[in-house]
Amino acid sequence: MAGSLPTRIISDGLFRRISVAHRKDCTMDVFQKCYQFTAAKEAIASGYYPYFIPLTENEGTEVVFRGHRLIMCGSNNYLGLTSHPKVREAAIQAVKRYGPSCTGSRFLNGTLELHEQLEHELAEWVGKQAALIFSTGMQVNLGTISALVSRGDVIILDKDDHASIVDGARLSCGEIQRYRHNDMAHLERVLASLPEEKCKLLVVDGLFSMEGDVAPLPEMVPLCKKYGTRLMVDDAHAMGVLGKGRGTAAHFGMSDQVDLIMSTFSKSFASLGGFVAGDEPVIHYVKHHARALIFSASPTPASAAAALEALHIMRDQPELVDCLDQNAQFMRTGFRQLGFNIGNSTTPIIPVIIGDDQLTFLTWKLLFEAGVFVNPVISPAVAPGRQLLRTSYMASHTRAQLERVLGIFEQVGKQVGLI
Ligand SMILES: Cc1ncc(COP(=O)(O)O)c(C=O)c1O
Repeated sequence: MAGSLPTRIISDGLFRRISVAHRKDCTMDVFQKCYQFTAAKEAIASGYYPYFIPLTENEGTEVVFRGHRLIMCGSNNYLGLTSHPKVREAAIQAVKRYGPSCTGSRFLNGTLELHEQLEHELAEWVGKQAALIFSTGMQVNLGTISALVSRGDVIILDKDDHASIVDGARLSCGEIQRYRHNDMAHLERVLASLPEEKCKLLVVDGLFSMEGDVAPLPEMVPLCKKYGTRLMVDDAHAMGVLGKGRGTAAHFGMSDQVDLIMSTFSKSFASLGGFVAGDEPVIHYVKHHARALIFSASPTPASAAAALEALHIMRDQPELVDCLDQNAQFMRTGFRQLGFNIGNSTTPIIPVIIGDDQLTFLTWKLLFEAGVFVNPVISPAVAPGRQLLRTSYMASHTRAQLERVLGIFEQVGKQVGLI
C-alpha cells in the first residue's frame, strides 16, 4: 500500500490544479507557474497519481504495469479490436507498402487512395453522402466546428460536451450557449431566446464518455428543426457501440435527420484519427476550410489501414456488438446487485459514482492494487458531487474476467464503505 493520501492535493482537485495556471503568482516570467506547480509531483511521491500510467504490455483486456497484471476496465477499446490479428496485419502491411508517414497534410501531398477509400466506406457506414478523415478526433472537432461557425453565429453545447467540442467552439469565435446536461426543456429555452436570423449549430456527444448516458435525439431533432438549428453529433464513444455499431443516430433510426456525424478512430476503430460525415457540399467546404486538416499531417498509412480493417470487421461481424452489449448488461446488473450507484448508464461505459475526491482516489488505488484498471474522474471533469470511477467494457472481456472484476469491486467497495 502506498503512502498516506495527500489530502491537500486531492481535496483541491488534481485536475483543477493541473489545468489552472497559478495566475495570482504570475511574475514577469511565463515559466514561473511551472516551477511553482507541485501538485502532480506530490501525488506521484505519495503513490496516488492515477494519470500517465506507463504500461509494458497491453493485450486488450489485460495490461501489465511494472510486472503487475491488471484487468483493463478503463479503455475505449470497446470491440477489443486492437488485438485482432487482421487489424494488426493491416497496419503492418500499410507500413511495408507506404512507409510510416505521409510527411505532409492531406491538402498538399499527404493524401493516399487509402484515405479516400476509408472516407467512402465510412460515409456509407453512417449513411451520409461524404466523409472526411483527420489525424485525430480532437482535430475533427477543432477543424469542423471552427470552419462552419463564424463570428456572429451561435454554437449551442450540452454542459457535459467533450473538451474537443468546447475548444472547437472557442476557436470558432461564435457565441457559445450551453444547456444543462440532457435537459431538453432547458435546451428549448436557450433556442427560443436566440434571434431567428442567427446561424446556429448544436453540437452534442451521442454517448457521453463519463456517465455512459445517451443524448435524446428523438427530442432534440424536432427542437433543432423548430428553431432552424443544424445538428452535429460526436459519436466518438457510440461508433461500434450503439445502432449496431453505426452510432447514435442509427440507434434512434435518425441517420438522415442528423446533419453531421463525427467520430474518432481511437476507440472502437482501434487506431488513431477521426472523421466527420454529412452532405457532400458541407464536407467539401470543411475540406477546404478546416485549418486542423490543412495545416497538419494526414493520418499515417498504418492508422488508416487499421481503421479500414476495423470497419470491415464491424460490418462483417455484427455479433461483436451483441457480445459487447451482453458484457455491459452483465456488469450493470452486477454493480446494481452489489449496491453501487451507476447512474443512468445504459451502455458499456459504467460509472461508479462516489461523490468525493478523496474516496474516489482511495478506491481507485485499492482496485489498482487488487488488479483492476479503472479511471478516477473528479471535478471539473464531472460536476462536484459526481466524482466517479469510469469503468468501461469490451466485447472481448471473458465472463471469468468480468466476474473477477465484480468480486474485487465488492471487496474494495465494502472496505471503503461504498456498499
Ligand atoms: C467525445 C469525444 N470526442 C472527441 C474525442 C477526441 O478523439 P481523439 O482521441 O481521436 O482525439 C474524444 C476522445 O477522448 C472524445 O471522447
